[in-house]
Amino acid sequence: MNKIVFATNNENKLREAREILAPLGIEVISQREAGADCEPEENGVTFAENAMIKAKAVYDIVKCPVIADDSGLCVDVLGGRPGVYSARYAPKGEECGKLLAEMQDVPEENRGAAFECVIAYVDGENEFTVNGSCHGSIGFEERGKNGFGYDPIFMCGGRTMAEMDSEEKNKLSHRGAALRELFKRLEKKGE
Ligand code: IMP
Repeated sequence: MNKIVFATNNENKLREAREILAPLGIEVISQREAGADCEPEENGVTFAENAMIKAKAVYDIVKCPVIADDSGLCVDVLGGRPGVYSARYAPKGEECGKLLAEMQDVPEENRGAAFECVIAYVDGENEFTVNGSCHGSIGFEERGKNGFGYDPIFMCGGRTMAEMDSEEKNKLSHRGAALRELFKRLEKKGE
């Protein structure tokens, strides 16, 4: 099994990456397990820039293949906000309530949104990014207990992502799409 270090301190992202990559034969090691105790400043203005910042910071410590995820929720009627600032939009646990309040007068037909994910890969010889998106809409209330972040208000196929089990979420999600794309790129590289 190939091993890859995931440059994250986010336990939810780590769990999802393990669930998605283990069946593809890739073992995901957390940056903490790899001994990389760092939290680089995410001062890029795009998902790709921030993902690369995180991957390179951890690669500089561990010197073996590293991936990083930068992701967020882009709401059409808000011009793509909170986007790259999704983690900083509100204190943890308050993001759904704040977004619902900001969108309280927005009718159903204008509530389109997408989760975006960029995965950066760095191994000392190669560095690249891959993307994944999941299109849906913002609901009118929080529903479901699974997942994290904006999952309770992100509707996809009639349910919120927090109402899905992780297998269903991973099939549809931006992170699932990006990590499967990563796997394809790594397979090509190994040919
Ligand atoms: P960052 O990539 O560490 O900057 O943080 C991304 C932020 O976007 C997270 O803190 C969540 O609020 C949100 N986010 C990213 N992916 C997901 C997801 O799969 N579900 C719900 N929220 C997400």
